[in-house]
Amino acid sequence: MRAAVAKKEDLYYNALARYLLPMEVPELSGLGQNYYGSLCAEMYDILHRTAPADELAFYLSYAEKGQKILEPLCGNGRFLVPFLEQGFDITGLDLSEEMLAKLRQRAPGAQAFRADITTYSGRETYDYIFVPSCSISLFTDIKQCKQVLRKLNALLAKGGRLVFSVDTIASRCTDDGDYQTTASVKTREGFDLILKSKNHYDERSQTQFSPGIYELYREGELLSQERMDFQTHLYQAGEMEQYLRESGFSAVLSYSSYHKTPVSGDDYEILLYECSL
Ligand SMILES: C[S@@+](CC[C@H](N)C(=O)[O-])C[C@H]1O[C@@H](n2cnc3c(N)ncnc32)[C@H](O)[C@@H]1O
Repeated sequence: MRAAVAKKEDLYYNALARYLLPMEVPELSGLGQNYYGSLCAEMYDILHRTAPADELAFYLSYAEKGQKILEPLCGNGRFLVPFLEQGFDITGLDLSEEMLAKLRQRAPGAQAFRADITTYSGRETYDYIFVPSCSISLFTDIKQCKQVLRKLNALLAKGGRLVFSVDTIASRCTDDGDYQTTASVKTREGFDLILKSKNHYDERSQTQFSPGIYELYREGELLSQERMDFQTHLYQAGEMEQYLRESGFSAVLSYSSYHKTPVSGDDYEILLYECSL
């Protein structure tokens, strides 16, 4: 009987430790701009477990067997894993150990490593690099964004292609006065995980600020909190094309949908780019 009780407690504390270690902090403090911490990664993996079919098909359409493929900012691997399952030679890279842990849970043998793309200095080159989910918009400092584009350019092999998407100013949110609960999920252990966030758009810098606070509860008792300083740059028509030219890409095609619809007008919420050297 005692052993059974101890086992149940162990299970509970092991579950809790998954959230509190290694990155969790005892007080509510920030983890750095756009850092996906443990509670954020947990919610992301519950809400975005699989890639949207049309988006996945779009990125798969560029892949060929025998190519070396890189997915920077691969997160929980919802794109990388289907590529792996279809026999492609793909490597992932992400800043967040917590997001990579989610990837490793579903594909323990996947090639994925922790790196900050803004400082990454690997020498290996790739035939196809893709960055889905508008993650390039996370680089709100335009100087840094161009550095990242130059780095991706340097990581491309001769004849290689870079494909990615960005959010546009048509996707801006209306400003909120205060934090509101914007998502709520049950974790595998039956804990309640909620996200409170608020939006503010700065016209001058074209930055959408969406700070969030993740809270984990067990039967109404707050177990831990985590701040997320989420920011995205929203692009104007033609803006990214200029940055790509400045970053050394000579051929750039743009689309307004995952069905490769050409761009005409400027009211699309996302834009897609297919770039070569
Ligand atoms: C919106 S998630 C997208 C993940 C994945 N591509 C998907 O579609 O599910 C953005 C990812 O970018 C990663 N990230 C943000 N800044 C980064 C940086 N400087 N270097 C590498 N990864 C970064 C985050 O850790 C996070 O996993």
